Amino acid sequence: MNAPTFPVASPISRRAIRELPDDLISQIAAGEVVERPASVVRELVDNALDAGATQVTVRLLAGGVRLISVADDGNGILPDELAMALKRHATSKIANLHDLESVSTMGFRGEALAAINSIAACSILSRATGQNSAFLLDGQTGELRPVARGNGTTVEVKELFFSTPARRKFLKTDATELAHCVEAVRRHALGRPDVGFAIWHEGKLVEQWRACTGDNALEQRLTDVLGKDFAGQSIAVNFGSADARSEAQASGLSNSQPGSRSGAPAVRVWGRAGIPDAARSRADQQYCYVNGRFVRDKVLAHAARSAYEDVLHGHRQPVYALFIELDHARVDVNVHPTKIEVRFRDSREVHQAVRHAVENALAAPRANQVDAVTATSDTPWDGHLPTASDLSSGSFFIQNRPLSLAGYVQSAIFLEANPALRAEDSGLPWVRPAQTSTALAALEGEPQQSEEIVWPLGKALAQLQGIYILAENAQGLIIVDMHAAHERIVYERLKSQLQATDHKGQPQTIASQPLLIPVTFAATAEEVATAEAHVEALATLGVEITPFSARTLAVRALPGSLADGDATELARSVLAELAQHDASTVIARAQNELLSTMACHGAVRANRRLTLEEMNALLRQMEATDRSDQCNHGRPTWRQVSIKELDALFLRGR
Ligand SMILES: Nc1ncnc2c1ncn2[C@@H]1O[C@H](COP(=O)(O)OP(=O)(O)OP(=O)(O)O)[C@@H](O)[C@H]1O
Ligand SMILES: [Mg+2]
Repeated sequence: MNAPTFPVASPISRRAIRELPDDLISQIAAGEVVERPASVVRELVDNALDAGATQVTVRLLAGGVRLISVADDGNGILPDELAMALKRHATSKIANLHDLESVSTMGFRGEALAAINSIAACSILSRATGQNSAFLLDGQTGELRPVARGNGTTVEVKELFFSTPARRKFLKTDATELAHCVEAVRRHALGRPDVGFAIWHEGKLVEQWRACTGDNALEQRLTDVLGKDFAGQSIAVNFGSADARSEAQASGLSNSQPGSRSGAPAVRVWGRAGIPDAARSRADQQYCYVNGRFVRDKVLAHAARSAYEDVLHGHRQPVYALFIELDHARVDVNVHPTKIEVRFRDSREVHQAVRHAVENALAAPRANQVDAVTATSDTPWDGHLPTASDLSSGSFFIQNRPLSLAGYVQSAIFLEANPALRAEDSGLPWVRPAQTSTALAALEGEPQQSEEIVWPLGKALAQLQGIYILAENAQGLIIVDMHAAHERIVYERLKSQLQATDHKGQPQTIASQPLLIPVTFAATAEEVATAEAHVEALATLGVEITPFSARTLAVRALPGSLADGDATELARSVLAELAQHDASTVIARAQNELLSTMACHGAVRANRRLTLEEMNALLRQMEATDRSDQCNHGRPTWRQVSIKELDALFLRGR
């Protein structure tokens, strides 16, 4: 048999090493920077914003493939610098390494226009501030001639990829490319509410966002760009500003970096985070900005997602627009040719700040914002108790924002402990002695009806099918899933007990309550073994399960708040979870899962008849419990049906 033959490589002729021609270098750079028309739009709008534009107009033909024109009213380019703008590595934005390390402009690489000019027909028309006339530079021929134009610059890019047809084949339909272009401008628009934007396609106005000013500029822009739903279904995030500073210090996130305001956190985070209900199946409404630049960053995405951990389950994607600001020297933007990625000097610090900011915004119960969310851009209570000086100066009622009910009740407790501050003339609309004690009583689970107080979740009316509580509030009807709501309340209570530390800084165990009559149940050998092996872990959880016989276990004690639940089911589920873990790490690692399981079995079951008092007590507890808008599995616990919606149901005009 013949041995197989392999083709023999022909000897490669050695070629001399040469420098590449400028054009080819630019085309290689273009391969990294320009993927599709939207990349050109991004670069040109970046340049317009760097030039101080207040209005940017984008015109497109055929999804941007035939023409992209971006016009601005910025400070323009001097005629004798026009040719330079198209040169590789020519920029007005940085001059040395120090500038690069603290860059605050969108551009700095000095290659975008050169790259674009190498793969399309480019022209720049510009009139610099202080000049009498405008000049047009043809990027292909280098011809320069005077033309008429007001201050600012228009860059036109025609026939993208005309010289690299292979690349052109990768483009999708015009409609898809247009959508990408619009998204590119949207990213800029969210980052710069103070600048007006307009997008035209084939002579038709596709989007227009007018410049916004004033305190609500960002909210207005978010509404204009992402729609009313986003604004109405999101909560203001604010971390690291003067208001939130004391809170950051308390949580150990404050960091006195050189250059940062004394005592202010090194990282500031603001914007809006969607409520869990607003989550989507795709991650298409997640906008993160670092020092004004839109970025896709794993640290930020993870931090934001982890803030939803406890309220959003499964594969739902939260929506948010978050703006992160930190010292320019603490973030490296020179990581990726398109600058969409950044590298943080201390990513842990940024992760913590973002997570904390979003978590805080989500924690406060939203019951009292039924109206406020849409009416005003309300910020919920930020989680810190008022200090004596806050109260006497009235500054705790920040910018007249309504305080959330959890905040109200906690303040009431604070006032109870500081009677000197309870003066009638404290200037605070909600500080009235009568209310204080009522709020306290309600928190203690002692329902009291008071005409004076308007409870956000209203007054209980009835129970429906043993599942729902119906209540009446100022807006109309409130429907509460009683098991889901109670489950969250119990879960949060268990969590805070376990997270609390004693005066020596040791973690607390959950207070348990012996059962009058131990509950025994037939157990598997594995369950018995687990109960014996995990006595300490169970004690930390406030649970006592001891073997009664070789095949029987007895539940002897449970946390007080779970005493009404199904002891057998609870014991079985906890043992099943414990069996999967190593005893030494179980509480630290699986704490929340364990507590959530316990809460699920400890919460009121369907078909338990509740008295009106019990229903009201549950509503009051919801108002005072963090994250009570979702159950432990991320489902909503309550819904508002407004009078308007009820009227519509009955075709009733008003
Ligand atoms: N719309 C504009 N208005 C005023 N000057 C502009 C405008 N567009 C470009 N320029 C000038 O042309 C130069 C080159 O622009 P180009 O986009 O190629 O590089 P860059 O913005 O400096 O850096 P990068 O490659 O990171 O974008 C800029 O530095 C700027 O001085
Ligand atoms: Mg640029």
